[in-house]
Formats: sequence, C-alpha cells, structure tokens
Amino acid sequence: MRIYCTKDYKEMSRKAANLISAQVIIKPECVLGLATGSTPIGIYDQLVEWYHKNDIDFSEVTTVNLDEYRGLTKENDQSYYYFMHTHLFDRVNIRPDHSFIPDGTCEDSEFECRRYENQIRSLGGIDMQLLGLGRNGHIGFNEPSDSFAQVTHCVDLTQSTIDANKRFFASEADVPRQAYTMGIGTILQAKKILLVASGEDKAEAVKNTLFGPITPYVPASILQIHPDVTIVADEAALSLCK
Ligand code: F6R
Repeated sequence: MRIYCTKDYKEMSRKAANLISAQVIIKPECVLGLATGSTPIGIYDQLVEWYHKNDIDFSEVTTVNLDEYRGLTKENDQSYYYFMHTHLFDRVNIRPDHSFIPDGTCEDSEFECRRYENQIRSLGGIDMQLLGLGRNGHIGFNEPSDSFAQVTHCVDLTQSTIDANKRFFASEADVPRQAYTMGIGTILQAKKILLVASGEDKAEAVKNTLFGPITPYVPASILQIHPDVTIVADEAALSLCK
C-alpha cells in the first residue's frame, strides 16, 4: 500500500488526477472505476483541464461507476448519472457508449444487479477503481455491517444516510430509500485501487481503514488485503495516522 500525503484538497486532487492520467497513458483502452461525492470533484476538474491542454485523451477509455440511487431518473439532478455527466463525461471525449452506471430506473432490482455485475465482467474487469471514503468507513454504498457483500447489490439506505442526504432534495420524502452499489468483492477485483480522502472529518475513517482490524464494520479496512492500493489523502485526513 502506497500512501501519498498532500498539503491540502487541491494537491490531493492533482496527485490523484496524475495517477489516473498515468493509467490512461499506459493503457489508453483501460477501464476506470469512478466515484461520485464531493471528494472527486477536484480530480475531475483537473482531468478536464488537462484534457483541454491535450495532455489526456479519453477516446478509448471505458468507465464504470460504483453506485447509483434506485428510483432516480437520469434527468434527476441528484442522480449519479447526472453528477458524472456534469462533472466529467460532458466535458471530455469519453464515448457515451463507453460509460456505465447502474440503471436507477430498472424495476427489477435483482435483474439490474446481475446485469451490472456481468457488464463489469464482460469488460474484462476494472484496471483502476477510484474510491471516496465515508466517515464511517463505507465505500460505494457498502455501509458497516456484519458481513462483506460480494457482488453488485441493492441496499436499503440507513436513516442516517437519508438524513445526511435530505439537504439535496426538496423534502425527506424525495430522498431515495435504496441504492445500487458494487459489492466489496467487485471492488477488490479491480487491478488497482485509488482511495482519496480529504479533511479532518475523514481522519478517524482513514486511520481505521489503514491501521485498524479488517472488519465489515469498517468496510474500507478490507483494502488492506488488496495487492495494489494507493491512498492519496491530505494532511488533515491523515492527522491521526502519525
Ligand atoms: C460515491 C460513493 C461514496 C462516497 C463517500 C464519500 O460514489 O460511493 O462512498 O465516496 O460517501 O463521499 P464524499 O466524497 O462526499 O465525502
């Protein structure tokens, strides 16, 4: 496991974007696993900037996203589909038919989970998976629980997640109650993992992820067994790891 400590969020974003860029240069037809949330926004902005300078070309890249709310349409500005198009896909030359996100509108959740897992497999797996980190150590929508979920599955959101997300919706009733997420097994099959974290509120989760026991109560702690993990975190996020 390689750990890069950066001064701040901006430097974290640049370093992580550098690693993604290196992956795309080494293997232009790579499969990138992507994440949403506030942490990767600076990374996507940096990649867009380099794209405009002709320093990175996404024309052969394929992307798969970690997760999506169940029940939200692509047009809903809270869907992860909308997020990815706003922050990255509509700003670079990724081919529309080369980016995959679970379909939040599929009626049959079991079908959708199977379809998405098979989709990832049919692409030959993920070359580099970008991950953010929840304050409780979650990755994707894999929340602390008493076992590690293997494959893409549909999760019931906890009341605390619903509470945390309701500020983005008109009312609590509009917050989705379920989401699709890659499983821990799906994530671990990625050839490389790039975990990013910024800010003091992630410090406890970073410490538990890197140095705590491997437990499904801190889902990200399983990354300790992956052979190729890079962490890019700022000083605040690494402040408890001295
Ligand atoms: C997003 C995702 C989540 C976030 C995590 C951290 O696709 O899978 O696990 O990475 O909740 O979110 P931020 O970056 O907003 O702190």
